[in-house]
Amino acid sequence: MRPRIPVGILGATGTVGQKLVRLLQGHPWFELTRLMASERSAGRPYGQAVHWLEPEPLPPHLAAMPVEPAEPGGCELVLSALDAAAARAIEPRFASAGCAVVSNASAFRMDADVPLVVPEVNPDHVELVGRQPWRGCVVTNPNCVVAGLVLVLKPLQDAFGLDALQLTTLQAVSGAGYPGVPALDILGNVIPGIAGEEEKLQQEPGKILGRLDGDHVEPAPLAVSAQTTRVPVLDGHLLSMSVRLGRRAGPAEVLDALRAFRPPERVRELPSAPARPLAVLDDPFAPQPRLHAGLGNGMTVSVGRVRACPVLDIRLVALVHNTVRGAAGAALLNAELLVREGVV
Ligand SMILES: NC(=O)c1ccc[n+]([C@@H]2O[C@H](COP(=O)([O-])OP(=O)(O)OC[C@H]3O[C@@H](n4cnc5c(N)ncnc54)[C@H](OP(=O)(O)O)[C@@H]3O)[C@@H](O)[C@H]2O)c1
Repeated sequence: MRPRIPVGILGATGTVGQKLVRLLQGHPWFELTRLMASERSAGRPYGQAVHWLEPEPLPPHLAAMPVEPAEPGGCELVLSALDAAAARAIEPRFASAGCAVVSNASAFRMDADVPLVVPEVNPDHVELVGRQPWRGCVVTNPNCVVAGLVLVLKPLQDAFGLDALQLTTLQAVSGAGYPGVPALDILGNVIPGIAGEEEKLQQEPGKILGRLDGDHVEPAPLAVSAQTTRVPVLDGHLLSMSVRLGRRAGPAEVLDALRAFRPPERVRELPSAPARPLAVLDDPFAPQPRLHAGLGNGMTVSVGRVRACPVLDIRLVALVHNTVRGAAGAALLNAELLVREGVV
């Protein structure tokens, strides 16, 4: 049996970082060997530095592991859960030192030579790493809403083409990291607008659904109008959308396309790939964050309420677990893809 690959986490003390710590426990290919965070945490045992929010207790051997400063060394693969400003400074240092950096941060997502990947949708974009200036590489996963959105759009793009999307989100508080939105602002309330979010929802889908053309991705010509809200939900972003398709199709055809979606076999076999990346729910009051965000261990995006739209062609509701499919699980799946493609 091949020895497990040593893996480090950048930003191991944050909301996404600790989710990565949990998902790496018992992983068949990866062994967690380094926990890295800011100077505020470095030098302390992980159990003291982290405000552990995961449902299972922190295993004692991890609680005792020292948090290290974010300096390269000791592993060829790092999963990054840094905030964007820290990522912009730190990730290139790791890539220059020969590491493959798989990043949740937005810092490099839209750079021409950086793949923005959801393995079930655009695994071929990984080839862009050959165009990067570093000895190692940086590969990114999208914004947490976009991670779910493109899984719904991909089968529609393949079957009918895509023209325009009107999207309203209802986003969970865990999407804001820890401590996130103050309780007095969010309890019993809805906050319209999330700083910087709408731009990402309007830019990132085109790149992911775009066509690899030599040294860059030719974006899919999809117009997106996005409005975001923060709601008092713990985990799970709800996406309410209307889509204008490239050619007209009714709800029955759209449902058939969503149900028939199958990612490439080499992606379906990755350890973190769910049996079903997309679950079509028939209940007219589904999906709901509390009931469905955990499907497929948080890696399955659920979709329902597929109806004709009197303004565009079709409307539907989707749900994505923002810290799993939208962040930690997405990065882990990308890391597995890099191994499968021989990049790591
Ligand atoms: N939460 C989500 O649902 C979600 C979804 C998709 C993508 N993302 C992205 O994932 C990243 C992490 O999000 P989060 O919610 O986990 O944030 P978070 O809870 O604020 O955690 C940030 C992490 O970065 C570390 N850090 C900050 N500055 C640093 C520095 N200069 N050097 C080294 N480490 C530093 C922090 O360490 P200390 O504890 O030592 O300060 C902490 O471990 C962000 O880029 C975010 O946009 C989040």
